[in-house]
Amino acid sequence: MSEHPASPLIQGFPDPESLAFAAAEFITQAAQSAIQDHGRFSVALAGGNTPRLAYQRLAMPDFIDRLDWKKVQIFWGDERCVPADSPDSNFRMAKEALLDHVPVPEENIHILHGDLDPETAALRYETELRAFFRTPGASDDRPTTFDLILLGLGDDGHTASLFPGSPALSERERWVVNVDHNQPPPPLVPRLTLTLPAINAAMRIAFLVSGRSKAEILASVLTHPEERIPAQLVRPAHGHLFWLIDQAAAADLP
Ligand code: 6PG
Repeated sequence: MSEHPASPLIQGFPDPESLAFAAAEFITQAAQSAIQDHGRFSVALAGGNTPRLAYQRLAMPDFIDRLDWKKVQIFWGDERCVPADSPDSNFRMAKEALLDHVPVPEENIHILHGDLDPETAALRYETELRAFFRTPGASDDRPTTFDLILLGLGDDGHTASLFPGSPALSERERWVVNVDHNQPPPPLVPRLTLTLPAINAAMRIAFLVSGRSKAEILASVLTHPEERIPAQLVRPAHGHLFWLIDQAAAADLP
């Protein structure tokens, strides 16, 4: 898959299954490239429903054997402030779809602690991320954050847990913040999210978007850049932006 530094690379697939296969292939190639380049692959997983199919596809034998999972480091782009075994937990979804089926070491799974006080959990993750990505004596060209961040797109244009109108969109220092009830519109539960500085420092950012319900917002995001929809604020500073979408989600694109 060629990477174009200047503008997003948009790829369409006929249906959710072929989108999931393409996403699994994309993740695998990004991982192989990162491991070859600097000995490890750090990926922040997206939550919600869309990526589940891709994680399940990645967990199948024809993909599992292509990666040295000991060198894969798993993070999340956001989490709901719920226990890890809650049906709302992004960790639980990824665990069931992927992590229980691949030989990634336990110590390589870096969860956002949705069970802790949100601000405590946000500060704890921020500390963990800054320690992980700052390797003493690292060569200058070591990535400053993730090799890959996977993102979804909400039908209101949110991504990770960066919602329209949220003060979290203006955060320029912190890498992780808690999105509490006081932010418009109140999310169903308090959430923890990577901020735009953390997301935009990644080497690769890939949106996975599927289904007719996303067609209108996707067309706005991709064809009306003036609207300042949260997902439009995802612009990698040094890396590459990819959109992997299916035909239903592309229905309103020109
Ligand atoms: C979450 C995700 C969120 C998600 C979008 C799309 O925790 O829910 O981080 O940003 O990606 O809401 O969700 P679906 O894939 O379920 O449509």
